[in-house]
Amino acid sequence: MPDWLLYTGSRHPHDGIDRLPPPPPWRAFDGEPVLRTPEGGSGNEHQATTYRPSDDAVQQVNAALYLRRPLLVTGPPGTGKSTLAYAVAHELGLGPVLHWPITSRTTLRDGLYQYDPLTRLYAAGREGAPSEEDIGRYIRLGPLGTALLPYGRPRVLLIDEIDKSDIDLPNDLLTIFEKGEYEIAELTRRADPSAEVMTADGPSPSPHPPPSRGRAPLDWPGARVTVTAGTVRCNAFPLVVMTSNGEREFPPAFLRRCVTVELRQPAGEAELAAIVREHLGPLADQSDDLVRRFFERSSAGTLATDQLLNAVYLCRHADAEDRRSLADRIMPYLSGPIDDD
Ligand SMILES: Nc1ncnc2c1ncn2[C@@H]1O[C@H](COP(=O)(O)OP(=O)(O)OP(=O)(O)O)[C@@H](O)[C@H]1O
Ligand SMILES: [Mg+2]
Repeated sequence: MPDWLLYTGSRHPHDGIDRLPPPPPWRAFDGEPVLRTPEGGSGNEHQATTYRPSDDAVQQVNAALYLRRPLLVTGPPGTGKSTLAYAVAHELGLGPVLHWPITSRTTLRDGLYQYDPLTRLYAAGREGAPSEEDIGRYIRLGPLGTALLPYGRPRVLLIDEIDKSDIDLPNDLLTIFEKGEYEIAELTRRADPSAEVMTADGPSPSPHPPPSRGRAPLDWPGARVTVTAGTVRCNAFPLVVMTSNGEREFPPAFLRRCVTVELRQPAGEAELAAIVREHLGPLADQSDDLVRRFFERSSAGTLATDQLLNAVYLCRHADAEDRRSLADRIMPYLSGPIDDD
């Protein structure tokens, strides 16, 4: 394993991130005060500890870490694009993954922060006097907004299925990633533009708490941080993992600023069998016929690794006379020919 690799794909946590050299001068950020990464696992320990990355994926993750650039991960369904983010967070001890699932309606603002003025007004009415100090209780940073806080170690931000986004989102993101900072307009226009706001870490706020609790909906017991001068500026640039199923081409300006990696289905039966064993342990015994069947069928259409995992699990428990036909029904083609055998 070459020495420069911090993330190795070993699945065992270590402190390799401490060897990350300073950024290239054009990607240096100086947000302060420097924050500690929240304690805790990646948020998906089974996936993180069973993931076997390709050599290419390992190398490109490290390139993204060194260069402080987002990583664009493409590939067919089920090839482990999303799981890669959890695996890196687990091995390098980068704390909980900040997950931002994208739909056609997602805006940049959703990822940065939410401000809830109505609840603030309601609380002010209930408590008698509006308080100028309390605005931070009604501002909650989103996954992107949290990832750009001045953490001393990179947070992992998973921007999942970015190809589903509105056409403008990739370019909006570029601007934010170039600057490594954003403003919270609701704070900058105040006389005192500093506030203690909530982050995306911790439990989600309930949208409708019972009034008797006397707490604002966004006042949940999660992490809070102080934002000064209404601006959030990163320190260690986050590891941004953006996944795409290839439903959209990205503009050259976007691609130029990313590190890219394309994931593929495991190349051989041995690699696939190793993944099955990783996930299912002894339950994977005597599953060679199903692994072979998966390979035969995947030459004719798209299948995903987790379909095979489901088939192996089910065939182990179901008392089926014909394992092969049961497995075929659990592994329908995701695209390609209609299953007619
Ligand atoms: N290389 C691998 N090693 C171990 N498990 C894998 C690997 N690739 C995929 N898997 C398993 O396959 C399943 C699907 O992975 P994941 O959801 O990350 O895929 P994806 O590429 O994000 O799929 P989609 O495009 O549908 O979002 C998970 O259970 C994951 O653990
Ligand atoms: Mg995914």
